[in-house]
Amino acid sequence: MIEVENLQKDYGPARALQGISFQVRRGEVVGFLGPNGAGKSTTMRILTGYLLPTGGRASVLGMDVVNESLAVRQRIGYLPESTPLYTEMRVDEYLRFAAEIRGVPGRDVKRAVARVVDACGLERVVGKDIHELSKGYRQRVGLAQAMVHEPDLLILDEPTSGLDPNQIVEVRALIQRLGTEHTVLLSTHYLQEVEAACSRVLVIDRGRLVADGTRDELVAALPLGGVLLRVAADRAALARALQLPVDDLIELPADRGIRGFRLAVSLLPEHEIARRITAAGIALHELAPLRPSLEDAFRSLTLGSDPGGRLGAQGSTGNERIGDESAEDGASREGGGID
Ligand SMILES: Nc1ncnc2c1ncn2[C@@H]1O[C@H](COP(=O)(O)OP(=O)(O)OP(=O)(O)O)[C@@H](O)[C@H]1O
Ligand SMILES: [Mg+2]
Repeated sequence: MIEVENLQKDYGPARALQGISFQVRRGEVVGFLGPNGAGKSTTMRILTGYLLPTGGRASVLGMDVVNESLAVRQRIGYLPESTPLYTEMRVDEYLRFAAEIRGVPGRDVKRAVARVVDACGLERVVGKDIHELSKGYRQRVGLAQAMVHEPDLLILDEPTSGLDPNQIVEVRALIQRLGTEHTVLLSTHYLQEVEAACSRVLVIDRGRLVADGTRDELVAALPLGGVLLRVAADRAALARALQLPVDDLIELPADRGIRGFRLAVSLLPEHEIARRITAAGIALHELAPLRPSLEDAFRSLTLGSDPGGRLGAQGSTGNERIGDESAEDGASREGGGID
């Protein structure tokens, strides 16, 4: 469905895509992750025929995105990063217009518009001018125009960005429904969206593809996991009690004054850990399995491997929005990483 081979993009002297390759097969819902400035929107704009690559090749549905860009645009649905709507038009007018320019035959336009109005929950606003709509409803109109011509492939650039939590839930449910019938490539900073809807994840960092796999494959590649220990002892005393080298323990941030450590799970069974700690007279406040999350995988892939420092801490749920947090990194790398 999508074939990308060594795709490069320079903006003037700045190289935004360093030669990325990946494929998306029919029926897949693929999450496209990466810090701010990583190259997600650039890749999507090339795939949708709106931007020319500097090098490499990309094809969609067997059609080259450069040589057959018009045909490509007719067969895919694209929700760009900032939804460009004709705000002086009414919702129904705009959707009819979108259907016509995408080649929906005149006699089918009415039915096509009714279908997306229903699918995107636009009944309430269909007669309103777009400029009257809230951001969430505009986003839905953006989704509706992307699917009005029943495209085989949907390319959605941050479809839930800027929505309130209720709208996020609704738009996410809509995307999940779309994913049952369409092939979808979706960029997002919400890892929960990926967990909920995506069968596979691509991670891009500074213009390079750094991971391609299922959520579980990405997480399994992490040097994380293990057990969390909260004890009334320092690292050396705990290592002595466990009869393990100090290096097997990674210190985590203290919680209400109680020290925390991570121990790789394969080293000792949990009952043996508890037994050794209590036998040494150390108070054991907490012993809990640490399961690495997709957020850990994202951070590991895009911040460099640092399992002890930034990654070892428990408590990541995968629900956090990671984009804002990594914005600083993304920005500083942008300057340094692109030559
Ligand atoms: N029109 C442009 N002119 C010059 N540089 C650009 C242009 N568009 C993007 N870039 C640069 O290309 C790089 C990739 O940008 P891109 O918008 O693809 O990132 P992104 O992964 O979509 O980020 P975000 O999460 O912030 O949306 C960045 O360094 C960005 O500054
Ligand atoms: Mg973007």
